[in-house]
Parts: sequence; structure tokens; C-alpha cells
Amino acid sequence: MVMSHIGIIGGSGVYTLLEKTKVVDVDTPFGRVKEVRTGTIGGIDVVFLPRHGSGHSIPPHRINFRANIFALHKLGVERIMSTTAVGSCHNQMPPGSLAILDQFLDFTKNRITTFYEGDEGRVFHVDMTTPYCPEMGKLLLEEAKSVTNREVFPEVTYACMEGPRYETPAEINAIRVLGADVVGMTNVPEVVLAREKSMCYSSLALVTNWAAGMADSPLGTTEVVELMKKNIEVLKSVFSRVIDRLPEERGGGCDCAKALDDAEI
Ligand code: HPA
Repeated sequence: MVMSHIGIIGGSGVYTLLEKTKVVDVDTPFGRVKEVRTGTIGGIDVVFLPRHGSGHSIPPHRINFRANIFALHKLGVERIMSTTAVGSCHNQMPPGSLAILDQFLDFTKNRITTFYEGDEGRVFHVDMTTPYCPEMGKLLLEEAKSVTNREVFPEVTYACMEGPRYETPAEINAIRVLGADVVGMTNVPEVVLAREKSMCYSSLALVTNWAAGMADSPLGTTEVVELMKKNIEVLKSVFSRVIDRLPEERGGGCDCAKALDDAEI
């Protein structure tokens, strides 16, 4: 099995970034993850996992997040970079902007958000003070700024909704008051499960639309995917530049690897 230290979770199309690609299915205790691509970027081993399945067929509320993260961990991934489409709740953050996620608010309802079910007779609460890897976040910010002349926002707060429906304007007003800058449906529990496996997790979000009630017309059903596709080249070049700059060893700029250090598990 190919072992890789870097994983990319993203939408269809981003995997064309990889050279010498192999497609593998990965068995996990939570089910089989199909069509994971392994390959290299600039000589560095990278795994690509399409969050919504290879043909974009799995809706957010049915994604098998535990299987996905377990599969990446099994392949040796220590650092994950993800792409995610978001709506903007923030007047100064228009569609087309890029955002580096820093905090999240969890409004999901029906997802299993942990690997630790108490089966070992112990309870474990993972720390979420710094949910997104600061070392990767810094590099993503710098490289996103250097490859594009659009606005790149640091320290962005993401609200994760259950979906698959979009929000009501009242919900958007409410989450804005609570501190959300952008809204999406997939970062939770992905970011949480990655930390439970002591992995670094970072997210480069593309603002695809104004959130509900903020634009003149309602959001179309295909708009988000279309915009994501149009921006693949930008996302790809940011990722390859970050991969190029990542120090081989973790720990210099983050504590993600120590997530389980004080856990009695
Ligand atoms: N709401 C929720 N998820 C999203 C949106 C949105 O407006 N845009 C892209 N993903």
C-alpha cells in the first residue's frame, strides 16, 4: 500500500493535480472508501479523496466522514488540506473571495462526530481551541495571496449546517449574529475527526455565493458546483505551492500531532 503524509479532500477535478495516479479502494471499520487516488505532487506522495464520491453523488448529510478520515489515516496521511465551497454571511466577503478557516460553529444534527464511542470503557473529549492547523493555515494564506489577486480572508469562522437544503434568511441573520462569516455543510465533523486522529487539518474555502437573503435572487441548485469547477486551477496551484513549502516534520508551527497526548486511551 502507498503511504502518504499529505491528503487532499476536495471536489471532483482537484485530483488532476496528482502525477502518477493510482485509484484504490480503502477498507475501514466504517465501510469501504472508493476511488481514493494516490500519486505525487512535485515528487511528494499525496492522497486525494473526493468528499462527495467520485461522481459528486453523496450529499453532505450522507457523507461517511469517519470512513473518509480513517482511510486517510490508514494511508499514512498526517496533514490534510481541504477545499470547501461556502456562502458568505459577511458583507465585505463577496463571491469569488478565498477564505482560510480558523474557527467553526456546529449546527449539524444527524452526524457522528467522534471515533471515541466509549467502547474502551473510557470517555475522551478532544480539545478544539485551535481546530484548524495554524501552520498550514499560514502557508495557505501566503500562497493564496501570491497566486491570485482576489481577496483572501484569514481567520474566518465557518458555520456548518446539516443541509442538504440551503438556509433561510432568518437562519443566516442568526448565525451572523453568533459570529459566522461563511456557511457550508461539510467541514464538521471532518475537522473534528482529523484532530481525533492527531492529524493536521486545514481548509481553503471558496466563497461561491452570498448566503440566503443577501443577494437579489435565490441561489440556483448548480451554481455552487459550477463556480467550484471554474476555480479548480487556482485551488490546485495554491495546494502545490503549499506542499512544496511544508516542512517535512510536523510540530514546528502547530500542536496538532499532540492532540491525544494527555488522553487515557
Ligand atoms: N449554504 C450552505 N452551504 C453552502 C453554501 C450556502 O450558501 N454555498 C456553498 N455551500
